[in-house]
This record gives sequence, C-alpha cells and structure tokens, in this order.
Amino acid sequence: MCKLLSVPLLFGLIACGVAYAAEPGHYDYGHAATVEEIAGWDIDVRPDGMGLPEGSGSVEDGEWLYEEKCAECHGSFGEAIGRYPALAGGEGSLTEDRPHRTVGSYWPYASTLWDYIHRAMPYTQPESLSDDEVYAITAYVLYLNELVEDDFVLNRHTFADVVLPNQGSFVSDNRPDTNNRRCMRNCKNPGTIRITSMVDAPQKTRGDVVAPEHDGAATYRQACALCHDDGIGGAPTIGDSADWLNRSDRSLEMMTENAINGFQGESGIMPPKGGFLGLTNEAVRSAVEYMLEQGQ
Ligand code: HEC
Ligand code: HEC
Repeated sequence: MCKLLSVPLLFGLIACGVAYAAEPGHYDYGHAATVEEIAGWDIDVRPDGMGLPEGSGSVEDGEWLYEEKCAECHGSFGEAIGRYPALAGGEGSLTEDRPHRTVGSYWPYASTLWDYIHRAMPYTQPESLSDDEVYAITAYVLYLNELVEDDFVLNRHTFADVVLPNQGSFVSDNRPDTNNRRCMRNCKNPGTIRITSMVDAPQKTRGDVVAPEHDGAATYRQACALCHDDGIGGAPTIGDSADWLNRSDRSLEMMTENAINGFQGESGIMPPKGGFLGLTNEAVRSAVEYMLEQGQ
C-alpha cells in the first residue's frame, strides 16, 4: 500500500500519512490482516483434534519419510543421535532420578506431536512437509513408541484412537495469575500505582519505626498500612468490615499471634510483624487492636 516506504523512510511515511490519514483511529501504516494471512498463523491443533486438516498418512509411508528427513538427528528408532532429543523409549522412567522424557513416556497428547512436527520439523526446514507427510511421520513416531500397529493409518478420524500413556498425569493449572483482589470500589487511580518489592519495602524503612508501643495507629501507619490500606497481596483492607468479618471466628489473641509470627492464609502471606521484626509484640498487638477498631 505504502509504496514510498523504501528510501528515504521519512518521505515514505509522509506519503502514507497523506494517503491514509482519512481513516481515524489508525496509525496510517499496516493493513487489516487478510483471511489468508490469519489462516497462515492459525495452524494449531488441539488435543481433541480440532485444527487437523484433511489428509492421511500410514506408518508404512512414514518409515521412509522419517528415515530421510528425521533419522539423521533423532536416530532410526527415535533413540537420538548425539545430543538431539530422543523421540521414543523411556516408558516408566518418569519417577526415576533421571527421567527419560520422550513422546511416548512423557507427552500428553498426539495433537502436540502432529502440531510440533508440522510447525517446527525438520529442524532446518520447518513447515516444509505436506499435511499427508506430517500424518505419515506422526504415525511412524507413534509406531516407534509402540502405540500403534504397523498397519495403522493416521487421519482426522483415527486420531481419536491414539491415547498417550502419560496423558492422565497432566492436570490443568487453574490457579489465578495473581493473588490480588479485584477492586470494586474506592479503587486506586491506576496512573499512580507503582510496582514495589514486598520484600525490600519493609526493610528500607525498618529503622524508621519509632512509634510508641501503645500507639497502635502510629505503628499501623508505619508498618502495616503499606499492605492493609489497600489490600495489597490479599491483606484484609482496613476499615472494610466485610474483609474482617470473614475472620470474626478468630479472637484478638489469635489474630495478634498470627500478626506476630506471620502466617499463610487463604488470601495471601502475612509476614511476621509485617516484616518489621524490630517491633515489640506489644506494639503489634496495639496495631491489631487499632485495625480491628477501624473495621467496625
Ligand atoms: C537437523 C537435526 C534435526 C532434524 C533433521 C529433525 N529434528 Fe526434530 N529436533 C531437533 C532439535 C534440535 C530439537 C529440539 C528443538 C528445541 O527444543 O527447540 C528437535 C525436537 C523434536 C521434537 C520434540 C522432542 C521433545 O521431546 O521435545 C520432535 C517430536 C521432533 N523433533 C520430530 C522431528 C521429526 C518428525 C523430524 C523429521 C520430519 C525431525 N524432528 C527432524 C533436530 C532435528
Ligand atoms: C507485606 C504485606 C503486609 C504487611 C506489611 C502487614 N500485613 Fe498483615 N496481612 C497481610 C496479608 C496478605 C494478610 C492475609 C493473610 C491471609 O489471611 O491469607 C494479613 C493478615 C493480617 C491479619 C489477620 C490475621 C488473621 O488471623 O486473620 C492481621 C491481624 C494483620 N495482618 C495484622 C498486621 C499488622 C499489625 C501489621 C503491621 C505490624 C501487618 N499486618 C503488616 C499482609 C501484610
């Protein structure tokens, strides 16, 4: 589109700007991805076989294709040449000190194998194989792992017959990415939020904690507010009675003990004394009292 983009660059950009400035909200370069371009990237194959193309390939055809295109690095039997990865063997070795991880012993799904070969192999010529060739070579690697018979033909339909032995050992990890609570009200202005290290922050100011032991409010401001003002890292937010109500089954004593010794609860980690180990137990106790008063 922007034919002048070559040299000099500046003039090229100007030319584009003039030609396409009419389209609001765009930066005046590039173009919307075409259907063909999206299809070129959209090549993943899912565990249920979604994304597999038409076509098929037999173990028999896979044998000579593999010998020609793969064996020099992965070995004729998938045993690996030199330090290239092995593609077969290792069954039952996962619990040993030095597990031998291969397609047969470790991988969860045959779709990963099809997809990997299709997009990345042979190492020096990725995406050079036709779909039928990928089917045949995949079938052959499965055969090397004794997962299919020598007359097996792999295609979209027979794909579902192949279950890799280690599939059941994979679990989906649905832990949330962060431990932060979602803020629904009185939220901070995102522009003013700075990322700080929870480990370093208390240390930097540790020497500054000079609040008198019985001034819970002062101790709170100096040693506890950095987390409890806004619920950082899952800390119960001061003044938010709902946050504290969840803990109402605990006595002041228990909470104080938790604040002194630190603990890991359901929402996060409360470091001992908030990280300010110079605080006396009494100071922490009055800070907890102060916090609970604010929560009423
Ligand atoms: C020039 C050497 C070479 C050739 C030829 C080659 N590969 Fe590979 N292959 C590699 C290397 C290197 C890796 C590791 C790549 C990485 O980890 O990024 C690899 C990784 C693999 C893996 C993943 C192994 C694992 O457990 O992580 C598979 C499967 C695979 N190759 C299959 C094939 C197939 C099938 C062919 C033939 C179509 C082939 N390779 C041809 C070098 C080669
Ligand atoms: C680095 C962050 C951080 C600092 C600093 C911090 N806290 Fe906490 N605090 C937490 C987190 C996170 C929790 C929630 C842990 C959970 O329940 O999962 C918590 C929980 C608590 C609780 C509830 C205990 C319970 O049993 O439910 C009390 C009380 C408390 N903190 C007091 C304090 C006091 C007092 C200070 C200052 C001396 C302080 N915290 C400093 C992060 C912090």
